[in-house]
Amino acid sequence: MLYFLVFGHLVIVLNALTFGSKNRALPKHGRVAILLRGQAFRQQWMNHVDARSGCHDDSIPAQLKCTDSLLKHIVTPLERNFNTVEFFVVNGIDKSACPNFRNLLMPKFAKWGGAAAKEFDSKTQADNMRATLELFKDTVGGSDYIAKWYDLIIILRHDAEWLSSITEWPTAEFDKLNLFSLCEDGFGRHQGPKENCVNDILHMMPGSLWKGFRNAVGSRLCYNPGHRRGLGHDCYRAFARQVGEDNITFVTDWRPGVIPHFGGNGILELM
Ligand SMILES: *[C@@H]1O[C@H](CO)[C@@H](O)[C@H](O)[C@H]1NC(C)=O
Repeated sequence: MLYFLVFGHLVIVLNALTFGSKNRALPKHGRVAILLRGQAFRQQWMNHVDARSGCHDDSIPAQLKCTDSLLKHIVTPLERNFNTVEFFVVNGIDKSACPNFRNLLMPKFAKWGGAAAKEFDSKTQADNMRATLELFKDTVGGSDYIAKWYDLIIILRHDAEWLSSITEWPTAEFDKLNLFSLCEDGFGRHQGPKENCVNDILHMMPGSLWKGFRNAVGSRLCYNPGHRRGLGHDCYRAFARQVGEDNITFVTDWRPGVIPHFGGNGILELM
């Protein structure tokens, strides 16, 4: 009896060591794509007046801190598990308006052989997300290729500072489509169940779910420029239709407060 108990614990410890992770099955010896979207060097919350715009010199230190935190808390743990990591990076500002993107940000990826990149003047989150997904697909050679060869695809924003390792994200499941969290509790149409609103700051999935995810993005209520200026808050139903509810999870069961918006989740903070 005692023997079996001890043995049982040993197996659990060994499994934890193998994956270096408390959560489900971080890929090992796999291939991972990191897609960055949005605008780099975005005006920080504390300085913003109206809508936050990109490419502010004031935001150089904060942006580089965000990018370094991505390398430390997401890329390094993946590489410790012997995964190869590739980067696909969109900056939603016209090339002529943001030399910092090429001079300061892109060199961060030099160690990985650089990143595929696209710069364009994006009008909404919808066209920015679309450009990011298309950059990835066109660079690697199509959706079938992605579905077959990528163990994990992680879609993130430039303006997130990562606070804890991907191995410690509490409820992530790497074989599912992961969204970050539900939306603000107690805030208008954002409160209530996932069908009402999901936090659109992160999307992560294995290649096997890529096609379903890709089909959902741009559908009637999900990153559609004609709906709520192209946000991803109303994507849950489209994702569920495309990949099945059982294939969707959240990285954390924390949900944002109204103010401060992101503080306190322990995983990321917006710059
Ligand atoms: C979940 O995804 C897998 C892999 O694509 C698929 O075979 C399965 O049918 C999906 N589950 C649901 C409930 O749709």
